[in-house]
Amino acid sequence: MDCLSDSFVPVSSILSGKCEGKKVSIRGWVHRARSSGGLAFVILRDSSGIIQCAVKKGVVEEKAFDAAKGVYVESSCIVSGTPKKDERAPGGWEISAADFGLIHLGTPFPIAKDQSVEFLLDTRHLWLRSQKLTKIMKLRDYATRSLRNFFDERGFFECVPPIITKSACEGGSTLFQLDYFGTPAYLSQSGQMYAEVYMTALEKVYILAPSFRAEPSRTVRHLSEYWHLEPEMAFYNQKMNMQLQEEMIVHVCHDLGKNHADLLTDIGREPEKLLAVRGPFPRLTYEKAIEKCRSLGCKIEYGQDLGADEEAALTKEASQPIFIHNHLKAFKAFYMREDPNKPGTVLSNDLLAPEGHGEIIGGSERIWDAAELRQRMEEQNLPMSDYQWYVDLREYGSVPHAGFGLGIERLCKWMFGLDHIRDAIPFPRTINRAYP
Ligand code: 4AD
Ligand code: MG
Repeated sequence: MDCLSDSFVPVSSILSGKCEGKKVSIRGWVHRARSSGGLAFVILRDSSGIIQCAVKKGVVEEKAFDAAKGVYVESSCIVSGTPKKDERAPGGWEISAADFGLIHLGTPFPIAKDQSVEFLLDTRHLWLRSQKLTKIMKLRDYATRSLRNFFDERGFFECVPPIITKSACEGGSTLFQLDYFGTPAYLSQSGQMYAEVYMTALEKVYILAPSFRAEPSRTVRHLSEYWHLEPEMAFYNQKMNMQLQEEMIVHVCHDLGKNHADLLTDIGREPEKLLAVRGPFPRLTYEKAIEKCRSLGCKIEYGQDLGADEEAALTKEASQPIFIHNHLKAFKAFYMREDPNKPGTVLSNDLLAPEGHGEIIGGSERIWDAAELRQRMEEQNLPMSDYQWYVDLREYGSVPHAGFGLGIERLCKWMFGLDHIRDAIPFPRTINRAYP
């Protein structure tokens, strides 16, 4: 049979019971195989699930039986037969094969049980076929779809930012520099400044694009390339900004917890944890957060930014995300508006995920007055020439606005209960890895 025909059914429709007693054909890859005497069991995987196929000598042609007996893990093949219920088979269904055909035998698969983390990262292009990563990548897709739906329903436009830029959004220390036809340019750390441009035309916008950080840190939550969701809203203040973030997080948690509970359970995450997320999330000022950290035994002083240890201490026992707002102007980005009611602090907010995961969102109300922005840029020694266009936005019909950035892999790490951020992205880029 031709593997390109469209007469194949997905494994999931067999597992759902829709094909009981009917003759079907399926195609996919060998998940596992074993044989003894005149019986070969081939567990076949397609994108929708896995199913056991029993291939019997004498029932199928000799050539087909020999092919089934000789397969490797990950050989690609076609099976035709009739599904029947079988409690002993994985998923509860088995196909009694009437025919078996190889698409490609291939060579023995290099990944067996109990491989080292480094080996699995070196063979990531093959390891992505594993059940756990397949399920995580499905969930990641469902998460970004859910986020897009959330913003669509609220009248946002999705916009695209440039990736090659001249200006740092989040400070010089983590910029990847490149040679742009003889002059320096950088890989974007954040699309925020461009989202602010779109905001002046479309009012409510979001960007979903890669951001790059030359992070020298080797941690379980830093990537040098990650996916960044950055909404920006005209006529929003800090309070409205936090409200929107809260609604977005509740929306995506409930969507996944309700509609993808099986996938979550399969990867070892309790859907109930996501269904239990509800607002209002606790809101702590930076000042109060420092007091709390110190009471929990952290050695941090007022004036220092919270680090991974402090965030872990604050969120370890928490079941809800926590907002930390009004950080000190001294260590926050130049574009954050100073709080007129609490001078020395800015109208910032970070959102920390519970269970020790820590920061998943950074957001703020933006400076919308040109003179105030120029002054802050001077204080931070930023070269005006690279940012003139950004200041221009404050010269021509400026409006109050706010926005935030959500790290997709940070969100997934928490929602899926992953130990390491590298498993939330197919091809993790970290300080010591850009292969495969
Ligand atoms: O807090 P950050 O640096 O804020 C910004 O970039 C703002 N311009 C966003 C905005 O207001 N539009 O980054 C935002 C989020 C973090 O909270 C985190 O989730 C994620 O981006 N992030 C990273 N994720 C993985 N690896 C890294 N190295 C990350 N750095 C930041
Ligand atoms: Mg941040």
